Amino acid sequence: MPTFLERSAALPHLGLGISTEYGARRSPGALDPRALRREHPGLGGFLEVGVEIERGLDADARAWVADGGPTTYHFLDVNLDEPEDLDPGWLAAVRGTVDELRPAWLCGDAGLWHFGTRDRGQMLLLPPVLVPESVAPMAAGLVALRQATGHEVLPENPPGAFFVGPMHVLELFAAVAEAADTGLLLDCAHLAMFQRSRGLAFDAGFDALPWERVIELHVAGGSERAIEGLPVVDDDHGIEVLPDTWAIFEGALARAGNLRAVVVECERNPLPDVLPLFRRVASAWGVDAR
Ligand SMILES: [Fe+2]
Repeated sequence: MPTFLERSAALPHLGLGISTEYGARRSPGALDPRALRREHPGLGGFLEVGVEIERGLDADARAWVADGGPTTYHFLDVNLDEPEDLDPGWLAAVRGTVDELRPAWLCGDAGLWHFGTRDRGQMLLLPPVLVPESVAPMAAGLVALRQATGHEVLPENPPGAFFVGPMHVLELFAAVAEAADTGLLLDCAHLAMFQRSRGLAFDAGFDALPWERVIELHVAGGSERAIEGLPVVDDDHGIEVLPDTWAIFEGALARAGNLRAVVVECERNPLPDVLPLFRRVASAWGVDAR
């Protein structure tokens, strides 16, 4: 079996892309991914499709695929560390969706996507407990999903205002990547939330990460709020990117030599509003921003 670094040579360079999930364009003024790709091919290089199997794919995702646009499959409904969550019915539906999307790879936040059984009323997203005991079950789920789909599965560091457990989130994901021999998706905005929650510098934990495994980055806007006096960051996917998210993104670009894809997560904003953000991301990465 070739190692991930050997296998990664076959992963395509997708460039700059955008994310979507079922019904995202119903928000007033939301971005039309196909219009972005038509008008700015350098900015709409691929579509990261958020998939909750029970909802399926919406018309926008299907139209993108019909145009021949590249995709990645971002899962929104699996607790990787629960073997019973990768049940035969769900896996069959995932394979069917993979056949439709023909994604370059699968990815998704490695955390708790539901509390209790997988049910529409119980969907949420919680980060994993940051202890060494979390590593092996999560790695086992990643390997099982990779084997079931025949595609690489890149775990993403989830958002959170609070994190339980003593490890640094990058330390945990480094250990998971080694144990599953997989690549990684680093969400710069989610990492900024973690660093703030612990009172750490933007680049704390950078030395722990095997950067050659980082295949994809996410950049997203966030806003600072206070809940009963407690400062938190709302991962709102708006157009204002916090300074620490930028610093993490630029630091990641300098280190991630195997990078294939960057997603600007801004699916519910109008195109003219997000263009400056796209251009800044493109110029930081040194890609064509037309
Ligand atoms: Fe993300």
